[in-house]
Amino acid sequence: MCGIIGYVGNRSAEGVVVEGLRRMEYRGYDSAGIALVAGDVLRVQKKAGKLANLEKLLSEQPLPASTIAMGHTRWATHGGPTDRNAHPHVGRNGRVAVVHNGIIENFAELRAQLEDRGHNFSSDTDTEIAAHLVELEVEAGRSVEDALRTVAKRLVGSFTLLAMDALQPDTIAATRRNSPLVVGLGEGENFLGSDVAAFIEFTRNALELEQDQVVAIRAGSVTVTDLDGNPAEGKPFLVTWDLSAAQKDGYDWFMRKEIFEQPKAVADALLGRRGLNGQLALDEMRLSDEDVRDIDKIIIIACGTSFYAGMVAKYAIEHWCRIPVEVELSSEFRYRDPILDNGTLVVAISQSGETADTLQAIRHARVQKSKVLAICNTNGSTIPRESDAVIYTHAGPEIGVASTKGFLTQLVACYLLGLYLAQVRGVKFDDEIARILDQLDGIPAAIESVLADAESVYALARDYVSTKSVLFLGRHAGYPVALEGALKLKELAYIHAEGFAAGELKHGPIALVEEGLPIFCVIPPRGRDQLHEKMISGIQEVRARGARTICLAEEDDELIKPYADTLITLPKVPVLLQPLVATVPLQLFACELATAMGHDVDMPRNLAKSVTVE
Ligand code: F6R
Repeated sequence: MCGIIGYVGNRSAEGVVVEGLRRMEYRGYDSAGIALVAGDVLRVQKKAGKLANLEKLLSEQPLPASTIAMGHTRWATHGGPTDRNAHPHVGRNGRVAVVHNGIIENFAELRAQLEDRGHNFSSDTDTEIAAHLVELEVEAGRSVEDALRTVAKRLVGSFTLLAMDALQPDTIAATRRNSPLVVGLGEGENFLGSDVAAFIEFTRNALELEQDQVVAIRAGSVTVTDLDGNPAEGKPFLVTWDLSAAQKDGYDWFMRKEIFEQPKAVADALLGRRGLNGQLALDEMRLSDEDVRDIDKIIIIACGTSFYAGMVAKYAIEHWCRIPVEVELSSEFRYRDPILDNGTLVVAISQSGETADTLQAIRHARVQKSKVLAICNTNGSTIPRESDAVIYTHAGPEIGVASTKGFLTQLVACYLLGLYLAQVRGVKFDDEIARILDQLDGIPAAIESVLADAESVYALARDYVSTKSVLFLGRHAGYPVALEGALKLKELAYIHAEGFAAGELKHGPIALVEEGLPIFCVIPPRGRDQLHEKMISGIQEVRARGARTICLAEEDDELIKPYADTLITLPKVPVLLQPLVATVPLQLFACELATAMGHDVDMPRNLAKSVTVE
């Protein structure tokens, strides 16, 4: 949510910043802007809409050459997505520029104080006060980093703030609280970014910053301090992926590329998890065996797609470990006064590791003495940093705003967690765990076989280009898949799409069914539990009312054929693992339908990749 970049070095700073913004545009695309210093003059260009609008402006009204600049791509919070609300914002004398990600909660009070002192504001944002305040401090003779320190102490809320002073044209200062900021360390040049995509083209050496640290970057140095100016240290890390991971590689959309990367992503998520003795080893787990044995309840918290991964996890963990599992939306969690203690393991699932709702939920859990385990894709992000343990999903960067490989690898991490708990608590024999791990090892090939049939799913999607409503039905682990299929369609195609537990249909939603309504049905594998038969009953009910069924079923499922207007076959996998294959055609369908409708698949309207405000 909002992408930020800063650059000081010897290259064209405008070029570096615009390219960085292009790779971070998935974080928000309501406006884009750039500030640079040429001589001792601050210059700013900004424009509502996507980065292309800013680029057009820059070509029509070029900025002077400079080797220091910062940029911003916005997901609007305070103030509509207009030119005047676009970042960077400047102080009243045009000396200081700032860019901001987050929300300054006490901005109204600070703005009123400044207005009393005669300041006028030219935007409706919470950010502009920071530019005015930093400018007052540098006008009083402070260095830009000192000024930022002083101002940050007065701010309440969440922020990553970058500030630049026209009269200190060798420095960009930055600070963070509850919002992401990483430093890229180059030779004779340094970078700031909301994430490493901002500078991956130039360096893989990076520095993670703690809460309330302040960094000053210059071409030849990076200095980190705390809010009182005491020397501090960031945590160095090496970025393990390269530029090609942040490029489309010939695909039309990042999302499509990421769907096709899923066999590898799942294989990577499983890599290196078996120890020498064949036992499951999660080396990123920082919970002792005793902690694990003491768990008497698990609460999974997450948002959106990650929440659906949590729903699948509940089926698997309860079945394998016999521990009660609750799944809760992060945004609801702390407001219901949940019952937590040190026997509760809170599992926070977050692809980005920055989702504010989930972050606040884990903080609440830790205050109640619960242990927190994060399942996350982004190394060093805030949620894993604030957790007692972490399982990284190793999906690589996910740029498409709608999550795909992020979801599948979250599922893998959830299964691994369930098996690990079962192993440590002794509720499953090692050979049973090894058998399920072998089944998981077969999943990448199973996903490949689903992807091999992508063309027929695309053709189906193109047939539905005028559809206004689609339902999704599932049972058991297929129910979250139905919800995820519906979410993907809402996000990308902007049409009414809803997922239901198939058994719930006759309790109300069946009233929606009318002649020709397309309904995706996730058919469970046949087994002893009658799920398959029950699902067929539900399908008969909707077909009797004119629905057109698109059934996702195992390849040798002959029984389903009479009930499917369209059949999408899935490879045979156990029911608990079926979400790993059944989700894929639904992703392909949503991606292709949105493409056929002419929508921007990677940047759906109103959305942003990482939601860093509550
Ligand atoms: C949907 C999607 C979102 C995220 C949600 C949580 O395609 O991507 O629903 O799953 O915003 O994000 P993370 O996992 O980063 O906490």
